[in-house]
Amino acid sequence: MSSDVEVLGTRGDWQPTDGLLLEVDNLQVEFRTRDGVAKAINGVTFDLHEGETLAILGESGSGKSVTAQAIMGILDSPPGFITGGELRYCGKNMLAMPEEQRRRIRGPEISMVFQDALSALNPVFTVGWQIGEMFRKHRGMNKTDAQAEAVKLMQRVQIPGAAQRVKAYPHQFSGGMRQRIMIAMAIALDPAVLIADEPTTALDVTVQAQIMQLLQELQEERKMGLILITHDLGVVADVADRIAVMYAGRIVEQSEIYELYRKPAHPYTKGLLDSIPRLDQKGQELAAIGGLPPNLTRIPPGCAFNPRCRYAQDVCREDPPPPLREVLHGRLSACHFSELLLADSPELEVTQTADAVEAALEFGPDAAPGVDIDQTTGFEPEAHA
Ligand SMILES: Nc1ncnc2c1ncn2[C@@H]1O[C@H](COP(=O)(O)OP(=O)(O)OP(=O)(O)O)[C@@H](O)[C@H]1O
Ligand code: SF4
Ligand SMILES: [Mg+2]
Repeated sequence: MSSDVEVLGTRGDWQPTDGLLLEVDNLQVEFRTRDGVAKAINGVTFDLHEGETLAILGESGSGKSVTAQAIMGILDSPPGFITGGELRYCGKNMLAMPEEQRRRIRGPEISMVFQDALSALNPVFTVGWQIGEMFRKHRGMNKTDAQAEAVKLMQRVQIPGAAQRVKAYPHQFSGGMRQRIMIAMAIALDPAVLIADEPTTALDVTVQAQIMQLLQELQEERKMGLILITHDLGVVADVADRIAVMYAGRIVEQSEIYELYRKPAHPYTKGLLDSIPRLDQKGQELAAIGGLPPNLTRIPPGCAFNPRCRYAQDVCREDPPPPLREVLHGRLSACHFSELLLADSPELEVTQTADAVEAALEFGPDAAPGVDIDQTTGFEPEAHA
């Protein structure tokens, strides 16, 4: 047995209470760079139970991957630092654990599938060797037994001809098959929590659906808590139980997926839904959200979404960011006016349109009074000239 072998106990060392696996509590992460301090995560809170699928949705840069990296303990540090909050696994705060204990969670208990399988796999080792490493390293198996386990896993993730292809290299597989290999590696040690960070982004639509179906099957069969990170609501709509929508490092809405899809409680979620084609709203014109997410070194005061929000009022610009609060049973939203939005109330005034936001971006604030160009882009006006 080589010196880097670390035989770990199987599941049972950690027992969730009432099925509660993971608690992310007021997590804060910042990146200290030469351009300033980027406040990437600003008080994210959610939990995950056994057998549950939580989707985390948000535009590029909203903090989805950084949240996952913080949970896994693989944050790029420096420049990234966890500056507040707790991450509890089976009730124990992982941030207070020695690294040695943390390593026993990473992989065997909480595992991750990355977006880009090609760069996550090592090109010079066969896929069987790479999957087998999990068993050699963490279960103390010999090469022959580890290879046999690798074949079984490849069969489970539906790789045709697994017994022969166990000796093939990553470049000899298609993108979808490589992602299946990544999934096989991630579930090898039977983790309680699986985080899939945009697992299908690089794949075509049919393969995306197959990978999502595979993840769902594995989640049900193993009773895993599954976190699906995506920027595409369409990809997760059929598989997720709950959804957390992120904007500028905060969760702005959290809800059971059907309810959120039927009627969003936050203007940002509404904007996302209005910008995708929907079978239940045929013929309706698609409307993109104007503007861009803020530069995280200069998040606008008040609600971070205010420069782009069609309902923004003075209170949104002046008061502290609205907290995530229960606006209906089981529905959380961080907006001053969620109740009015949910009720389609005529009292909810449209103060700026997406066109006005875009005009302010292109031609300056005078094109649309009230829209602060610097807040909208996070850049100086010259940078957009
Ligand atoms: N290594 C890093 N160095 C500096 N800043 C970083 C680093 N990684 C992330 N950030 C900051 O954290 C923010 C959130 O990044 P994150 O990768 O979580 O976004 P994301 O929501 O996963 O976006 P995407 O959909 O593009 O993957 C980034 O906009 C960036 O400002
Ligand atoms: S708090 Fe104000 S700016 Fe923020 S989403 Fe609600 S209405 Fe829009
Ligand atoms: Mg990401």
